[in-house]
Amino acid sequence: MARLIALWIVLVSLTDPTFADARLAAPAGLTGDAVRGRALVGDRRKSFCLLCHTGPFPEERFMGNLAPPLDGAGSRWSVDELRLRLVDSTRLNLDTIMPAYGRADGLERVARQFQGQPLLSPQDIEDIVAFLANLKE
Ligand code: HEC
Repeated sequence: MARLIALWIVLVSLTDPTFADARLAAPAGLTGDAVRGRALVGDRRKSFCLLCHTGPFPEERFMGNLAPPLDGAGSRWSVDELRLRLVDSTRLNLDTIMPAYGRADGLERVARQFQGQPLLSPQDIEDIVAFLANLKE
C-alpha cells in the first residue's frame, strides 16, 4: 500500500503542471536587448510590472509591493527560469496573480481585439529576461 501511494505521488508530481518544467529555453534566433527590456519593465501601460514589483528604477516614485522585489532576480534565477516566470508563472504557482505574459490561450476576460495574442511578444520577453538577468545582488 505504501508503495502504491509513493507511486501515485511520483505520477502526480510528473503530470502536475507545477512540477512539469521549471525553466524554458529561448526561442531559436532571438537575443535579448537589456536596455529595451528595462524600458519595457518600466512601461506601466504595456507590461505594468511595477504595479506589483519594486526594482532599480530611481526615476519611479511609486512601485508596487504585491510581489518580491526584482532586485537580485538575476542572482536567484537562471535565464531559463526567468523566462518561464514571464511566459507563464501559473506553471509554478496556479494561484499566482502575476499575468502569464507569453500565453495566449486559457485566459479570462480578454477584450476582443486582444484575443489570441499574448500580452508580450517573444522578443519583448527575451529583452526583459536580458534586463532581469543583469540584476545581480
Ligand atoms: C499583478 C501583479 C504582478 C505583475 C503585474 C507582475 N508580477 Fe511578477 N510576480 C508577481 C508575484 C505575486 C510573484 C511571486 C511569485 C508567485 O506569485 O508565485 C512574482 C514573481 C516574479 C518573479 C520572480 C521573483 C523572485 O525572485 O522570486 C519575477 C522575476 C517577476 N515576477 C518579474 C515580473 C516582470 C518582469 C513583470 C512585468 C513584465 C511582472 N513580474 C509583472 C506579481 C506580478
